[in-house]
Amino acid sequence: MKTLVIKVDPQNPEAAKIQIAADIIREGGLVAFPTETVYGLGANALNADAVLRLFEAKQRPLDNPPIVHIADIDEVNPLVKELPKKAKLVMEKFWPGPLTFVLKRSSNLPNVTVAGLDSVAIRMPMHPVALALIKASQCPIAAPSANLAGKPSPTTAQHVYEDLYGRINLVLDGGSANIGVESTVLDFTDDPPMLLRPGGTPYEALKLILPDLLLHPFVEAEVELKPEKVRSPGMRHKHYAPKAQVILVEGSVETITTKIKELIKFYKDKANKIGVLATDETQSTYQADIVKSLGSRSNLALVAHNLFRLLREIDAENVDVIIAEGLPSHGLGLAVMNRLRKASGYHIIKTK
Ligand code: TXA
Ligand code: MG
Repeated sequence: MKTLVIKVDPQNPEAAKIQIAADIIREGGLVAFPTETVYGLGANALNADAVLRLFEAKQRPLDNPPIVHIADIDEVNPLVKELPKKAKLVMEKFWPGPLTFVLKRSSNLPNVTVAGLDSVAIRMPMHPVALALIKASQCPIAAPSANLAGKPSPTTAQHVYEDLYGRINLVLDGGSANIGVESTVLDFTDDPPMLLRPGGTPYEALKLILPDLLLHPFVEAEVELKPEKVRSPGMRHKHYAPKAQVILVEGSVETITTKIKELIKFYKDKANKIGVLATDETQSTYQADIVKSLGSRSNLALVAHNLFRLLREIDAENVDVIIAEGLPSHGLGLAVMNRLRKASGYHIIKTK
């Protein structure tokens, strides 16, 4: 299969280009498109064959369902059995945006789209290209992140191209995704609701209108969870795993930098190629083969924006080990730390 790439205006997507993409979706094909979080790989959520091809293209296990994307809040009803009042309230406040709702599913969705579960994850994105594509396709679009399973989520069309060239029909290139980490996932199939995956919508903002919101233990887990604790299929699967071994060093800035310098010396003595994921404040203190800054420690939104791109870049340097600095876990930092801990396979060194 030849993969076509079409550049679109991210703010005012050209109707003719969107129509090409929508025709592919309607015919059961696969289109990667930008959202405000990361790029998604879309297929008609109501077409079982198309969704099956989506899993195949990503090499994604069939037991891990994608998020179903819609362009209007009224499109939720046909997809769910019930919409709890609380969930509706949160939707009205945060949609369109980086927030996904897990709800009891209706029978309108093919089994493959929900991986045989009795629930479905739904999101209304706010990126103009995503919204235009869903509207023009006239169907809900199942869209996991547009990476090969196990790779960091793509934040540019180039990342999508590297992972999925020859496996999908089209990439709509709308520039780099703004937020850089995936949407926050909230489970409303039970009461009180539970945050399953931290992401683009901060926990603190949700807690303001959902005081009883629970955090799934996985969100801040520092060891691998036992299978019975898993509430979202995504928690079971290996994620964001660079080729190199990742070591995450947590603590205060002072103790982190001291420990990382020790580690650099240790791996240098073993003649290993070392990459460090640092921050603006600390970057110049490390003498490693590759040192990249995620941004300032006081700008966690920028750190989130850079995270997946830098993980890809540093891994492309074929380093043996990646040493990453722990960051504060408030705001978007909670999502950043969740992804870094997973990427490290829970190889975490505490320095406090
Ligand atoms: O920002 C995002 O959410 C991006 C963009 C493209 O919208 N999408 C994304 O999709 O990250 P994906 O498929 O890579 O991640 C969806 C997550 C997975 O961890 C999956 O296990 C979980 O949502 N999920 C999907 N359906 C679920 C369900 N019924 N119950 C619990 N978790 C579910
Ligand atoms: Mg993903």
